[in-house]
This record gives sequence, structure tokens and C-alpha cells, in this order.
Amino acid sequence: MTLITRFFLTVLLALLVVFSTGDWVKGYPRDVSEAQDGKPTATYGDAIALDAQPSPDRDLVIAYRRRYMSALSGHYRSLEEILENEAPFSEHTLTHIEALVSLAELMPDVFPPGTGMMSDDDWGAKPSIWEELDNFSQLIANFQANLEGLKLAAMESQTSVNLTDSFAEVREGCLDCHRLYRVRQP
Ligand code: HEC
Repeated sequence: MTLITRFFLTVLLALLVVFSTGDWVKGYPRDVSEAQDGKPTATYGDAIALDAQPSPDRDLVIAYRRRYMSALSGHYRSLEEILENEAPFSEHTLTHIEALVSLAELMPDVFPPGTGMMSDDDWGAKPSIWEELDNFSQLIANFQANLEGLKLAAMESQTSVNLTDSFAEVREGCLDCHRLYRVRQP
């Protein structure tokens, strides 16, 4: 066999392996709607299977995820100061809301399988996230929808008073998820 034939055969074989394993480009469902249609996807199944094994990047992911949540919290608390305590920065309102909308889009990324609490952890993300991925994805989708609602309200309204209800829904979005899937630091 000439070198060139051998080269092509190797490439062909590699391509076959890659494509026959299916979901190689998919990973964790980025598109929340994908996990919502009730049909467990291949990634859904993988997520459960893989969760038994800690991810090799587990510590890095968890450290990042906590910073990410603090970033959400920073924007959320800034809004609280403006909308509920009347801090004189109402012109910043939309910036914080848009930051939250953008960050919320990334939320599915920060929960890859294998990054839940282990038996010797005192706090963190409950492993049930990856057993109830449909429900978890729905909570992310609700949170995103609540933020879109707040953004619309902010664009339509000139006064922060009118945003109180939409802001309360965003808060509920944080709490709904935390109640089910987060164990707080003691
Ligand atoms: C869909 C689920 C979900 C939503 C929505 C959500 N969180 Fe979280 N949050 C979690 C989970 C799970 C953890 C635990 C992560 C860990 O410790 O690995 C967490 C952790 C946190 C933490 C602790 C970070 C640390 O340093 O330990 C803060 C603060 C936080 N969230 C704030 C918020 C705020 C504010 C919102 C809404 C604006 C929000 N979260 C929305 C799931 C969510």
C-alpha cells in the first residue's frame, strides 16, 4: 500500500468513528427547548450515566459556576437597590437587566454532568439536577422568560414602580431553582 492510500484510509476510518458515535458535537443541551419537548435525547441519557463519574474539570467548573452565580447576584442586587430602595441610578436599570438576560442564556453551560455535590460535600448543586434534567431545564427557561418580561416592562415604563411585579417574578425564578437544586453553604 502506498503511503497516500494508507493516509486516506486512516482519515476515512477516523471520520466513520466520529460520525457513528452520533452526538459528538452536541454535549450538554445548550438549547433549553431541546430538553423540554419531553423526548429524552441522547444527551439526556448520557448526562445521567456520566454523573456517576466526577467530571475531570469538576473543581474548575464549580469554582466558575459560583462566580457566575455571584455575577448574576451582583446585577440582581443592583436592580434591587434601584427598584426597591430607590437608589438614584434608574438609568442603569436596563443595563443590569440586559446583563442578566445575557448571563441567563449561558446558564445551561455551567451545569455539565459530573459537577454535582459528592457525598463529602457540605454544599453545592444537588445531583438530582442530572436525574431531572427536563425539570431543571424548565426552571432555566422560566427564569429566562421572567427576565424577558422584566426587560419588556423596563422598556415600556418610565418609572421603577411599574417594574415591581416583573422583578418579583425574577426573584421567584432564582428561588424556585435554589429551593430544589441548591444546598447553601452552612
Ligand atoms: C436553574 C437554577 C438556578 C437559577 C435560575 C439560579 N440559580 Fe443560583 N444557584 C443554583 C445552583 C444549583 C447553585 C449551587 C452551585 C454550586 O455551588 O455549585 C447556585 C448558587 C448560587 C449562589 C451561591 C454562589 C457561591 O458562591 O456559592 C448565588 C449567590 C446564586 N446562586 C444567586 C442566584 C441569583 C441571584 C439568581 C437569580 C437572579 C440565581 N442564582 C438563579 C441554581 C440556580
